[in-house]
Amino acid sequence: MQNLLKGKKGIIFGALDSNSIAWKVAEKAHEQGAEFVLTNAPVALRLGTISELAEKTGSKVIPADATSMMDLEHLVDEAMKILGGKVDFVLHSIGMSVNVRRGNHYTHQDYNFTKTGWDVSALSFHRMMSVLYERDAVNKWGSIIALSYMAAQRVFPDYNDMADNKAYLESVARSFGYFFGRDRKVRVNTISQSPTPTTAGSGVKGFDGFIAYAEEMSPLGNATAAECADYTISLFSDLTKKVTLQNLFHDGGFSNMGVSSPIMDRFMNSYNTENGIEEPTEE
Ligand SMILES: NC(=O)c1ccc[n+]([C@@H]2O[C@H](COP(=O)([O-])OP(=O)(O)OC[C@H]3O[C@@H](n4cnc5c(N)ncnc54)[C@H](O)[C@@H]3O)[C@@H](O)[C@H]2O)c1
Repeated sequence: MQNLLKGKKGIIFGALDSNSIAWKVAEKAHEQGAEFVLTNAPVALRLGTISELAEKTGSKVIPADATSMMDLEHLVDEAMKILGGKVDFVLHSIGMSVNVRRGNHYTHQDYNFTKTGWDVSALSFHRMMSVLYERDAVNKWGSIIALSYMAAQRVFPDYNDMADNKAYLESVARSFGYFFGRDRKVRVNTISQSPTPTTAGSGVKGFDGFIAYAEEMSPLGNATAAECADYTISLFSDLTKKVTLQNLFHDGGFSNMGVSSPIMDRFMNSYNTENGIEEPTEE
């Protein structure tokens, strides 16, 4: 343990079960000496196993639906009471698309579902920061992070309307991050994480193929949830004070790849088979 977060206090959104990225962040933040409150939507508190995490990390759990201003205001007020003042870090680890859940194709969405997914996955980040800002709830040199995915920049057809939600989320990080930086010296960033086997991740159609492809494409391989948590801790720590308004790729190099040799070899093998082309034999 390096005590990277010793004396720091925070709020962690989105730990559902032990696979959740937020769960790993909470474990690592605890290891590094932080104190925090955990929060999730009331329904997730009933279905998930967050109380185990709370016990393990000595944390209180405060229910909050991230689409409700009333819940968020109550959460921030209670967190400041429990922690005895302002917070130093906040993690937004929330995502959900009703269109994905219901199997609606991107070209034929139910727009009421689209609005709900956007509210939960993207606008909630603005709401959360608005409450923190209005209540002046974050200490100078604090750090706010949300989790994103590269479908915000590039096309992943089965990621559906979550791609648009992530683009909005990343934009909010920059726009709100300006005011948090200028007025409070607080940094705001998004981490764009590799595909990761969690409840939210596995809900995306064709996830197994998706994660295997990314693994072969990335020179360092996919980043795990635990590795994402390590990276998040570094961004909560005082070692990264001047990093803000960034979308930071944490993906083993995937985002800068064109093609990798294992992927090309597989393509050429099936291409040759389909076209009856024989592999040149070595003399
Ligand atoms: N798993 C991946 O492949 C992957 C890749 C890149 C980014 N991400 C992002 O990481 C974040 C965390 O997801 P995860 O993969 O750990 O999955 P997860 O399913 O464990 O976490 C998603 C969380 O969102 C919470 N949530 C949903 N609706 C809510 C609401 N109304 N109010 C409050 N909380 C609500 C859920 O209860 C759950 O805890 C999400 O933003 C996700 O898009 C995931």
